[in-house]
Amino acid sequence: MGRLDADGQAGATLRSVMACFPTGVTVVTTRDAQGAPMGLTVNAFTSVSLEPPLVLICIGRSTGSHDRLIASGGFAVSVLSEGQADIARRFARQPSDGRFEGVAWWQTPSGNPVIEGVTAWLDCSIEEVMEAGDHTIILGCPQSCGSSDTPALLFHRGALTSVRP
Ligand SMILES: Cc1cc2nc3c(=O)[nH]c(=O)nc-3n(C[C@H](O)[C@H](O)[C@H](O)COP(=O)(O)O)c2cc1C
Repeated sequence: MGRLDADGQAGATLRSVMACFPTGVTVVTTRDAQGAPMGLTVNAFTSVSLEPPLVLICIGRSTGSHDRLIASGGFAVSVLSEGQADIARRFARQPSDGRFEGVAWWQTPSGNPVIEGVTAWLDCSIEEVMEAGDHTIILGCPQSCGSSDTPALLFHRGALTSVRP
């Protein structure tokens, strides 16, 4: 137990505590103003509401994707499957050029890229954007979605693993 404001290391402490909470791993994608596919690895993704349907993602304000993603008006979420740890690393690496090179993907009716072989996917329009510290909470309304039986990739204590025991 510890007070976050007492050790001067609040960011590092919070990060290591939150790392104990297992999440799935997604690649959030859209198209930039020139129509080129772009995307980044995101684990801050969650369901918000069923009626109306809403999900959220949290995007760092200092990421290269931040402004272009919001300007695009929509995004797709590819929920990565257990064999896609390399995709999670690739879409988190800098520089961002060439992230889609050699990666199979298809496009939703709205044109957003979805990675081939994922556990699930959603295509969303942006409903609301809320500043939240060094991140922005983006509320998305799913327009179409799908899923498969493939087990998901898991992020826990800094490691990319599988939901299989
Ligand atoms: C497992 C994992 C989860 C991540 N989750 C997020 C996230 O939820 N939000 C975010 O802004 N960045 C997240 N990142 C970091 C971005 O993927 C990374 O900063 C990326 O290089 C940003 O690319 P960009 O600058 O081209 O936008 C995550 C990285 C990893 C490896």
